[in-house]
Amino acid sequence: DWTMDNFIDLEIAKIREKVGDKKVLLGLSGGVDSSVVGVLLQKAIGDQLTCIFVDHGLLRKNEGDQVMDSLSGKFGLNIIRVNAQERFMSKLAGVSDPEQKRKIIGNEFVYVFDDEASKLEGVDFLAQGTLYTDIIESGTKTAETIKSHHNVGGLPEDMQFELIEPLNTLFKDEVRALGIALGMPESLVWRQPFPGPGLGIRVIGEITEEKLEIVRESDAILREEIANHGLDRDVWQYFTVLPGFRSVGVMGDGRTYDYTIGIRAVTSIDGMTSDFARIPWEVLQVISARIVNEVGHVNRVVYDITSKPPSTIEWE
Ligand code: XMP
Repeated sequence: DWTMDNFIDLEIAKIREKVGDKKVLLGLSGGVDSSVVGVLLQKAIGDQLTCIFVDHGLLRKNEGDQVMDSLSGKFGLNIIRVNAQERFMSKLAGVSDPEQKRKIIGNEFVYVFDDEASKLEGVDFLAQGTLYTDIIESGTKTAETIKSHHNVGGLPEDMQFELIEPLNTLFKDEVRALGIALGMPESLVWRQPFPGPGLGIRVIGEITEEKLEIVRESDAILREEIANHGLDRDVWQYFTVLPGFRSVGVMGDGRTYDYTIGIRAVTSIDGMTSDFARIPWEVLQVISARIVNEVGHVNRVVYDITSKPPSTIEWE
């Protein structure tokens, strides 16, 4: 009979047989799928695995360090962290169109990964966190006609690798169960969905360091309070966005003219449709007060109460 431990033993045996004494490359995004693949491969082939983690500067607060601490520190994965923040920022300067931003981030990601991968010698295999659902959905790319989705860790076009996709018979909930069986922390296994272009599509319009900082800090407060109130398993996805406009407020005895933060929190099964999460007013009040008090240049907080459709989950 089928158990997760059987699955692990079988997969490890399959991977060892396929890879032999050759080398495998894996693009880590910090997401559940690529992390689980990383830990599984580490168990199967140890140092024959090299991971590349591209930090595009559009990650959430402390996320890059957490990926390194957990996967490199605790699980001993061999990870090359590429700090490519400046490269991405310079390419994104002056760009405000959402699709343009997605394309730039997606392309740059492949270039950076490609540059790093080409420095490695004798790699024959590329591992990917492809799920069963990715395979059955690839015929009907409905979401992509609305937004050009990009997932980090794609295969650079001119690279010749054989693919290893150990999750391609699993659904998302099985991948989480596999992660738990492999001893991975719940915080990683139950990580909420996070788009490949990251905070880049949560700063509406042109991305600047200042705006990124505002989104990153307000998002950290939101996540902290959602966890404090035990809502992190009920709300499917939750984050803040920064629309580019300013409005008038009053603080102390002075007038302010500062940014608005939007809170987006939704319930969903698969991201294709969603409803806004019924977060208690008291919790929203705490979050709002903390954001205006702790994040500079924010004087207003609004809660997005639209469903998908007609809205999308992300604002860009
Ligand atoms: P939307 O905004 O289209 O999002 O309702 C549906 C789900 O997809 C995520 N999303 C993305 N994921 N690359 C990704 O990997 C992208 O470009 C992208 N855009 C949106 C979004 O966070 C939500 O979970």
